[in-house]
Amino acid sequence: MTTQRTPSELAREAARLLLEGKLVAIPTETVYGLAADATNEDAVRKIFEVKGRPSNNPLILHFDSLSSALPYIDLGEGGDQVRTLEYLNKLAAEFWPGPLSIVVRRGAGVADSVCAGGNTIAIRVPNHPVTLAILQELKRPVAAPSANPSSYISPTVASHVRESLGNLIDLVVDGGACSVGVESTVLNLLSDPIQILRPGFISAEQITQTLGCNVESIVAANNPVNTGDTLLSPGMLSKHYSPTTPVVLLPHISKNLNGITQKVGVILFDQKKVTFECADQTVLSQSGDLLEIAAKLFSALRELDKKGLDLIVVDTCEPKGLGLAIMDRLIRASAR
Ligand code: TXA
Ligand code: MG
Repeated sequence: MTTQRTPSELAREAARLLLEGKLVAIPTETVYGLAADATNEDAVRKIFEVKGRPSNNPLILHFDSLSSALPYIDLGEGGDQVRTLEYLNKLAAEFWPGPLSIVVRRGAGVADSVCAGGNTIAIRVPNHPVTLAILQELKRPVAAPSANPSSYISPTVASHVRESLGNLIDLVVDGGACSVGVESTVLNLLSDPIQILRPGFISAEQITQTLGCNVESIVAANNPVNTGDTLLSPGMLSKHYSPTTPVVLLPHISKNLNGITQKVGVILFDQKKVTFECADQTVLSQSGDLLEIAAKLFSALRELDKKGLDLIVVDTCEPKGLGLAIMDRLIRASAR
């Protein structure tokens, strides 16, 4: 169900449904989320059912501010507490609301299945006016994974959510196209050094600059071979963010696609030419602008996935900054 209500009416309606234990798709700056009241165990379990998500994969908690999140965090004691608070304050001041999720120790108050049996939580303040209004109205956190069936491509417009989950959820709040287009950076504050568990718009360099400490990146796309001809060790990768049509990265295919009879669709990052015949071609950016590429990539993958192609070939970029997040998603989308 979608409506023509004003943003504040929509926010009130969404908050009312969430309080009743219903599922509501919400817009964020990264991708659309499938939200439930994070304090309601039954509601959170429905998220896992609807997505077909493995119960051992925890959910991100969304708040309207750091101060709303603090009651749900176990800050530890002594020097540990001082450091965690200092890091949270600095990261929130620099990046929130925005595409950064931070893993901290779990306090009391959220449903067990949010944490998938663990004792940590990932928290974030999303940068979208309608969702911030929902959170302010609700006065409690929502748990929200990306609003797609597990392992499919994340949704970046409301129609993506309606197409794949529309009849399984209670409301899709249409907040327009997501401006960032790839999921948030996930940062683990509990390790030493602190670690990026999932690359996103906010880079390790930006976090290092803000906190003045070393940040480790645990990401597949960090492997320098990913834009070359050699395939990454498939064992390192879990298939994710994947269309139904097989995906192959352009550098892995350009040498041996001659003579191929398959129907091939291509997603290019700039105005380059490909040497093989393709049934469909999408250029994401005339100039290779990473912001534009990230914002359009998931929509382009979904579009090509509807066209009955045998193969989707996708361009690559240097795995640096936002390019690292883009390559991480593409390497997973093309994993077998
Ligand atoms: O941009 C985003 O983060 C979007 C929007 C809706 O906020 N959400 C999103 O959620 O991408 P999801 O569930 O699709 O991905 C969350 C990622 C998963 O890789 C999950 O394993 C990780 O965050 N995660 C969540 N809680 C965690 C925790 N306590 N410790 C470590 N990783 C966690
Ligand atoms: Mg997801």
